[in-house]
Amino acid sequence: MSVLVTGAAGFIGFHVSKTLLARGDAVIGIDNLNPYYDVALKRARLAELTGAAAFTFHQADIADPAAIAPITAHHPEIDRVVHLAAQAGVRYSLENPYSYIESNVMGQVVMLEAVRRLPGLKSFVYASSSSVYGGNSKQPSSVDDRVDTPVSLYAATKRADELITHAYCHLYEIPATGLRYFTVYGPWGRPDMAAYLFADAIMAGRPLRVFNHGQMARDFPYIDDIVAGQSRQSSPRAASRIHRCARNGARTHGRQGAPADGAGRRGDELRRYRSLATRSRL
Ligand SMILES: NC(=O)c1ccc[n+]([C@@H]2O[C@H](COP(=O)([O-])OP(=O)(O)OC[C@H]3O[C@@H](n4cnc5c(N)ncnc54)[C@H](O)[C@@H]3O)[C@@H](O)[C@H]2O)c1
Repeated sequence: MSVLVTGAAGFIGFHVSKTLLARGDAVIGIDNLNPYYDVALKRARLAELTGAAAFTFHQADIADPAAIAPITAHHPEIDRVVHLAAQAGVRYSLENPYSYIESNVMGQVVMLEAVRRLPGLKSFVYASSSSVYGGNSKQPSSVDDRVDTPVSLYAATKRADELITHAYCHLYEIPATGLRYFTVYGPWGRPDMAAYLFADAIMAGRPLRVFNHGQMARDFPYIDDIVAGQSRQSSPRAASRIHRCARNGARTHGRQGAPADGAGRRGDELRRYRSLATRSRL
């Protein structure tokens, strides 16, 4: 298989690319290496991938049709697309809202326009987010819940991605699957996320910074489970499907950090986890 992976220098994109290369697929990676967090980490992930002969990398912005169209035109052999590039993070959308519209909304349309022209496309799997459950009071979330009360711009752009993709599926019969990731953790993880921030504080002997006085709940799926689920979502159907990707169970560390209480923050959801029933359907 020949797989286009956007966001290949990112946390999940790196792991997906590495797994695909290990099983013998060709991977065409795209990433703009933006400075949302330390670019050295993105370059270090890429360095792990570039040793593989079957890996090709293009530094390009998915929101720029003039940059993306030539890449897909140059690689007509692409038969699978894993679209992960996005402006991630809930809280940063309060600081830099335009970057979310640019990468997540414009970027989604540019990718859909590019992939609908691929002659042998068998699947388009893209990252949505559990944040689409937003203001829902029902917990745990399930596959049939309504998702029309986003509480952050990030969530609104991810929901927009689902709706835009649904329209493209209807119009062009793109075999698309959206994955609503919960809070993923693991090696090479994102430095803006709780698992990394907590581990960093514990190792440095600093208090843990917790929000809403610790009254928050999350499902934490491990990256290997996400990658395994990702590779199963490739059946060649022309339909718009949504799946939730979550798993309980954090690994424990030998040291403990003392919490320092903080107030809740705008855009945060207090509880975000999913039902075991829908999880088993993945
Ligand atoms: N990690 C999680 O827990 C989580 C949870 C829910 C959803 N997601 C979604 O999964 C996907 C991957 O997340 P991640 O944790 O690996 O994030 P990440 O930030 O580590 O990876 C995203 C990559 O996309 C690249 N990128 C961003 N905008 C781009 C653009 N306009 N053009 C090209 N490249 C661009 C970034 O440079 C980065 O390397 C994202 O769509 C994110 O919204 C992640």
